[in-house]
Amino acid sequence: MKNFYLTTAIDYANGSPHLGHAYEKILTDVIARTKRLEGHNVHFLTGLDEHGQKVQQGAEKEGISPQERCDKVASEFQEMLTKLNVSHDDYIRTTETRHKKVVSNILQTLYKKGEIYQTEYQGFYSTRAEQFLQEKDKVDGKWPEIFGEVTEITESNYFFKLSKYQDWLVQHITENQDFILPTNRQAQVLEFLKEPLNDLCISRPKERLSWGIPLPFDDNFVTYVWFDALVNYYSAVVSKDPDRENFWPANLHVIGKDILTPPHAVYWPIMLHASGLKTPQSILAHGWWTTSGAKMSKSTGETVDPLSLVDQYGADSFRYFVMREMTVGQDAEFSLERFQSRYRADLGNDLGNLLSRLLHMTQSYVDGVVPAVNLCESYEIGLQERWEKAKNSMLQHFRAYRFNLGLEEIFGFVRAINKYADDRLPWKLAKSEDPQDLQTLRACLSTMLEGLRLVSVAISPVMPTVHAQIHERLALPSIKLWEDELVWGDTLTGKTVKEKIILFPRD
Ligand code: ME8
Ligand code: MG
Repeated sequence: MKNFYLTTAIDYANGSPHLGHAYEKILTDVIARTKRLEGHNVHFLTGLDEHGQKVQQGAEKEGISPQERCDKVASEFQEMLTKLNVSHDDYIRTTETRHKKVVSNILQTLYKKGEIYQTEYQGFYSTRAEQFLQEKDKVDGKWPEIFGEVTEITESNYFFKLSKYQDWLVQHITENQDFILPTNRQAQVLEFLKEPLNDLCISRPKERLSWGIPLPFDDNFVTYVWFDALVNYYSAVVSKDPDRENFWPANLHVIGKDILTPPHAVYWPIMLHASGLKTPQSILAHGWWTTSGAKMSKSTGETVDPLSLVDQYGADSFRYFVMREMTVGQDAEFSLERFQSRYRADLGNDLGNLLSRLLHMTQSYVDGVVPAVNLCESYEIGLQERWEKAKNSMLQHFRAYRFNLGLEEIFGFVRAINKYADDRLPWKLAKSEDPQDLQTLRACLSTMLEGLRLVSVAISPVMPTVHAQIHERLALPSIKLWEDELVWGDTLTGKTVKEKIILFPRD
């Protein structure tokens, strides 16, 4: 079995999860579930980014230790993953020993190789923002109010020789067309690489930032942000259990577009390459959920709490909505009206009604026993052909991470089944005394049930619970491989289906 190792960004432990975090984890989960159904040995990692100034300050404000603060945030994020039914195999926290050890080793290796050097850095420092400012931070030639007092200081720090690898990276990106996904983001990265790279400052003096991983070669410093966070993807698969080393290099890093350039597309491949490690196959950058046109974020405060929607509508409705609504790579505006309209139309009307009325008819007309498909007229053949088309195009879309279009295909097929029923009128056939009509009724029910079974298989990565509910109603065992399951056939013949249920109650 072929390994497929995929990761999400590790969320920053300075606030509560919101729709943006939930979306990314669902997107990655859908990919993981799809890959499992396609026969891969999947390893799915997510986690929490726990070091840094803001975490330290947040803890001080609450009067607790930074570790206590991280523990609280970690359980909040993990609760979200459970509620969203995310099927990750591992959760890494950057304060774990298994991670810190690997960061330390990589730093030591690079230092020994001469890839890290110490130098004086002179710049304008804002104590309020706790950061060095750049000329471009000025407004009308002055430092804006928000930075408070700005002073010119000289500080000694450690730097990583990023610039040395600029040409290598440009070549790497050009030669590996699937390195940056969606491919239209590649140009942006290459554009960034047209300017000369500066070496990367990787440290902060301990007196300024204590909540970090100490540099192995100089105890007066901790490593700064990216040299810690990015390494999680590697540390998670090397340190816990030597078998996991097989999972490196990662096949796919799923991240938001804000952390593509430069962290994931520039720093990370260079860090790996300079350390003599393999680079990941692909980085998939998704867009942002916006509210009132602006990126939903902790700092604006205008966020949607995913869990309240999940509590009200169920995880699968939420998963369906975000996957159906967002084109991977682009932004999407969140609106409750839009959510409710998809819930009522696609889920309630189209899919939910199909299941309940089909189960009801099967119970009433044939005692719940699925008839054999023994009559195939153009109606039935038409629906089968409709399925073949929907399936092929759905598979293509899913493989190219175009889940919105894949779902559109599946739900187009759901509507085709409903249309088929409106053409065939099984409720009328059931009233007929003509044996030919009863024969047609049986063919009609078995055709619709087979269509529903295929829909249930197709939606399973996006709606695993709804899938399991439909399969349970149809008395079917759990599924393993898509290639076996997505085939029109007669697996249902002779099975006794169960009573109807309401999948998506009216809200
Ligand atoms: O960036 N819409 O953490 P983070 C979609 N710790 N995605 C969004 C979003 C939105 N409105 N807001 C955030 C960090 N995200 C670092 C990552 S990885 C080695 C370190 C996404 O909590 C964001 O793009 O700010 C990122 O991929 C993830 O949520 C975590 O963001
Ligand atoms: Mg962020």
